[in-house]
Amino acid sequence: MKTVKCIFLVAIGSLMMSCESDTYGEISGLAVDNPTYDANVQKIIQDNCLSCHSVYTDNELPNLEGYDNVKDAAQNGLLLSEIAAPYGQGMPEDGRMPQVLINTITAWADQGFVQH
Ligand code: HEC
Repeated sequence: MKTVKCIFLVAIGSLMMSCESDTYGEISGLAVDNPTYDANVQKIIQDNCLSCHSVYTDNELPNLEGYDNVKDAAQNGLLLSEIAAPYGQGMPEDGRMPQVLINTITAWADQGFVQH
């Protein structure tokens, strides 16, 4: 019985450690290397912005769905300054994204808005 319990605890332990190291890897990096819209930016915008900024939301906010709209907002709009603003003063309206996500979008813009 003791052995079973022990194996169980080890299994739980390594599960927790693997979760932890994933999270750590994500927040410890300054930015994803060579970010692209398809691989990185699209998901960040989807998770953090589209609840308010899409054609499906009943408001006049800029639509941030799709490569062209996000590129346009980053190039000609306030997207980059909004995401880099201090907590509570920029976007998303309800909080600031983790720095690694902000850096990833900024790097994507700096590197010429690579799509694929
Ligand atoms: C909870 C709803 C909400 C979320 C989530 C949200 N926004 Fe907004 N956004 C707003 C509202 C409301 C405004 C207009 C008022 C203002 O500028 O504060 C706005 C304005 C903006 C503007 C300025 C538009 C302009 O040209 O004046 C940009 C750019 C923007 N958001 C980008 C983003 C980005 C990028 C994200 C995700 C990182 C995001 N928003 C997430 C609600 C939201």
